Order: sequence, then structure tokens, then C-alpha cells
Amino acid sequence: MQEPFLIELQKIGEKEIGYISVAQSFSNIPFEIKRIYWIYKTPETVERGNHAHKNTVQVLVCLSGKISITLENRQRKVFDFILDNPNQGLFIPNYYWRKLTFEKDTISICLASSDFDEEDYMRNYNDFLTIK
Ligand code: TYD
Repeated sequence: MQEPFLIELQKIGEKEIGYISVAQSFSNIPFEIKRIYWIYKTPETVERGNHAHKNTVQVLVCLSGKISITLENRQRKVFDFILDNPNQGLFIPNYYWRKLTFEKDTISICLASSDFDEEDYMRNYNDFLTIK
């Protein structure tokens, strides 16, 4: 089973002019990017996620602010990550239950391997642990 990992995205530029980072399928992103969405204005008190995907894999990037992410697989192995740097991405494999909290004013972008499909979601934690 694949495990989550951090991807270092190249930081092109310098302090005086600012930076560009790039996500490109099969170059530094290990899948074809089919969909991009972004999450913003999430209150600090809210926990998002609480689902897993059957097929979709994703890379999450924190463009501004800070995200705390807990990922758990069906063997109940837990991985904790902090994203607070726009030149880092977090690869999230399929079948990982995710919980995310966001610092105030955080903006994140998520690159996904599939079109949106509610059928691809597992939103019940017990089903996630037990259903084959
Ligand atoms: P969801 O993936 O459940 O986000 P979170 O776990 O962060 O709350 O999505 C929230 C809602 O947005 C849900 O009703 C599905 C909808 N949505 C789309 O319509 N298209 C998309 O690409 C995504 C990511 C979500």
C-alpha cells in the first residue's frame, strides 16, 4: 500500500523578486492532474475532511497560512503533517482517512487525479475500516 509523503516543489526566484513553484503531471506530481480545487476562509474551529477516497489520489499545497493534517489508513497507521510552506506538497494516496484544520486566512490548493465523483467518497469511518 502506498503511504503519504511530502513533495519538495522547486522554488524558482529569489528574495528580491519573489518565487514561482510549479506542479506538473509526471514531473513532480506522480499522476495526471484532472481537477484542481482550493479551500479558503475555513474557521480555525472547523475540522474538514473526515472522508477517504476509493480511487482519487491528491497533492495538497498550502499557499498561505498553515494546515494540520492527520491521515490514517485501514491498518490504522496514522501520519501527521503540517503544511505551512508553498513549496511543499503532500501526496495523499487513496484509502486514507483525512482530518484537516486550518489556521485563520489559510489558502490551500488541491490537485486531484480524477473528476469530482461523490461515489468515490467514503464518508463513514466504520465503512472505511471494514469494507473491502
Ligand atoms: P469535500 O470534499 O467533502 O470537502 P471537505 O472534506 O474539505 O469538507 O467537499 C465539500 C463539498 O464540496 C461536498 O458537497 C462536495 C463538494 N465538492 C464538489 O462539488 N466538487 C469538488 O471537486 C470538491 C472537492 C468538492
